[in-house]
Amino acid sequence: MQAYVGLLPPEVLAAQSYDVRLAHWKKTLVHTPQGIFLAEDDKLGPMGFASSGLARDPIRIETGNFRGEVYALYVRPVCQGLGLGQQLLESCIANLGRAGYSAVMLWVLVGNPACKFYERMGGQPIGDRLETFGGKEFREIAYGWGGKLPKPPTPERAKKSV
Ligand SMILES: CC(C)(COP(=O)(O)OP(=O)(O)OC[C@H]1O[C@@H](n2cnc3c(N)ncnc32)[C@H](O)[C@@H]1OP(=O)(O)O)[C@@H](O)C(=O)NCCC(=O)NCCS
Repeated sequence: MQAYVGLLPPEVLAAQSYDVRLAHWKKTLVHTPQGIFLAEDDKLGPMGFASSGLARDPIRIETGNFRGEVYALYVRPVCQGLGLGQQLLESCIANLGRAGYSAVMLWVLVGNPACKFYERMGGQPIGDRLETFGGKEFREIAYGWGGKLPKPPTPERAKKSV
């Protein structure tokens, strides 16, 4: 929830308690474990994760039928900038492609610095919507990969170590 401080109202973040998130993940891991990736280190433990699957609100436009979705992607602050976000995102996209969903999208709040990351990863803006959190409306943007969108360049980057 740390990633949403300053983006969403404090009461919305407060409602996402540890117990609420634990219950969500217990259910998710039982029912839809296929598209979940975890980056882990022997010493640091979990470093980041991504979850993906069938799009909950698919976008169909002339550039593709975006039926795959990355639901969530988080890297622990201490582990950011090491290339894990890129690896987790690419794992989701490749896995969805193998399952037949080669056009993949995700939703992100406008103003989230992650938008720049998705653009760096070759994501193209393909739509937007208003979502309500805590009684207030917030704009989200959808980024897409695949379909007839231009193929993103593979970023060449030097990997740093923790
Ligand atoms: C967005 C996030 C997943 C990126 O993960 P990361 O492991 O730090 O990213 P990587 O190290 O793989 O970065 C890959 C490239 O994207 C760039 N990048 C990453 N975050 C960026 C940002 N906020 N702004 C601009 N560029 C960014 C990196 O500089 C790197 O570029 P390079 O190839 O030129 O070196 C991570 O910052 C995060 O977990 N943020 C908080 C949670 C969040 O908002 N998730 C998205 C919810 S929709």
